[in-house]
Amino acid sequence: MTPRTISVLGATGSIGDSALDVVARHPDHFTVAALTAHRKWERLAELCRRHRPEVAALSDPDAARALERALAGEGLPTRVLAGEAGLVDAATLPAADTVIAAIVGAAGLRPTLAAAHTGKRILLANKEALVIGGAAFMAAVEDGGATLLPIDSEHNAIFQCLPPGYARNPAASGVRRILLTASGGPFRTRPHAELAAVTVDEACAHPNWVMGRKISVDSATMMNKGLEMIEAHWLFGVARESIEVVVHPESVVHSLVEYVDGSVLAQLGHPDMRTPIAQALAFPDRVDAGVPALELVRRGSLTFEAPDLDRFPCLALAYAALGAGGTAPAVLNAANEVAVAAFLGGRIRYTDIAPACAEALARLPARPVHTLDDALAADAEARIVTRAWLKLPMAA
Ligand SMILES: NC(=O)c1ccc[n+]([C@@H]2O[C@H](COP(=O)([O-])OP(=O)(O)OC[C@H]3O[C@@H](n4cnc5c(N)ncnc54)[C@H](OP(=O)(O)O)[C@@H]3O)[C@@H](O)[C@H]2O)c1
Repeated sequence: MTPRTISVLGATGSIGDSALDVVARHPDHFTVAALTAHRKWERLAELCRRHRPEVAALSDPDAARALERALAGEGLPTRVLAGEAGLVDAATLPAADTVIAAIVGAAGLRPTLAAAHTGKRILLANKEALVIGGAAFMAAVEDGGATLLPIDSEHNAIFQCLPPGYARNPAASGVRRILLTASGGPFRTRPHAELAAVTVDEACAHPNWVMGRKISVDSATMMNKGLEMIEAHWLFGVARESIEVVVHPESVVHSLVEYVDGSVLAQLGHPDMRTPIAQALAFPDRVDAGVPALELVRRGSLTFEAPDLDRFPCLALAYAALGAGGTAPAVLNAANEVAVAAFLGGRIRYTDIAPACAEALARLPARPVHTLDDALAADAEARIVTRAWLKLPMAA
């Protein structure tokens, strides 16, 4: 197996945790070159002591100074960098061949794009970067000679079910449809009338997966599945009409690919992010991910149902945004980031998230995206519109 030297962007998060667990199991194959975070410098200091990276970067300059002080005199080989420039340096470090893109939200876009431009092997968890960047991101991957391997569990499942060398052309490979599975989150069967009163803790208590807070809320609203649909469109070159969302509460079947001859290939496994991360880290080889065997007989049955678009209006909004194209996905993503942060901060109700996103899409009709700047301008406008509509302070 080819040894890999890895930069982990978002090392202190849930995906970062899972990735570093897999890395630590295989010291002969994987070496850590860089680690990044936003503010959690104490956690990053622990990770630096354990993995001894060449670079550690924090986007918050005060946190970076605190990390530098904490590591001073410990004899580590680690240079501490700060700000977005520091994250970009970590993403493009010459010593690293592989970048795990696991920053949450739009903040991950520039460092991940920089990794694409410098031809890295990118293990992509940060779906928001692709939702905003779309065509520009895929062009950067191609122009930079980068390799994009999805580690979002659904997209990793689809990647594993597609033929080797698949070139974003479903017709040429006999692919009829992609079936994206969704757990339905914690509110799949909660009476409608109770949704306005759900708490942050309830929304973050996913039945099957342990994840960061933003993606947990996105799973509860099913915006996550909407963003994943847009992600699948860009990653695999599949039209919106050929992507179907199937609710599968057990989260054992991670997604499926249907071929024109009627064959349907699926990837199954425990709901544990170490599996897709290990698959992508070792690809085309395989390594132990520390995940127990899937006992199908003990599982007994697996169930599937259609998504309820009245209960999950965010999913319908994502269908609409992908259909509208241009700047619409960037607007939807930005409005959602603002609304979810406000919900997590106790400023709005759970049921305000979807109307806030709908309002942003209605007020900012889709415009064509010629360059990444067009998408970033739409992102910025949508944040202003959404904060105003939710009556949030502009700097929040
Ligand atoms: N968790 C999962 O199982 C899962 C599954 C599939 C896909 N994903 C995707 O993976 C990404 C990460 O999710 P997660 O659950 O791991 O999130 P998380 O636990 O919240 O971790 C987010 C990471 O990003 C860093 N970060 C946050 N804001 C930042 C900013 N403004 N600038 C730079 N770094 C920033 C955080 O640093 P601090 O700790 O210092 O704040 C942390 O390291 C998301 O795009 C998510 O959709 C996650």
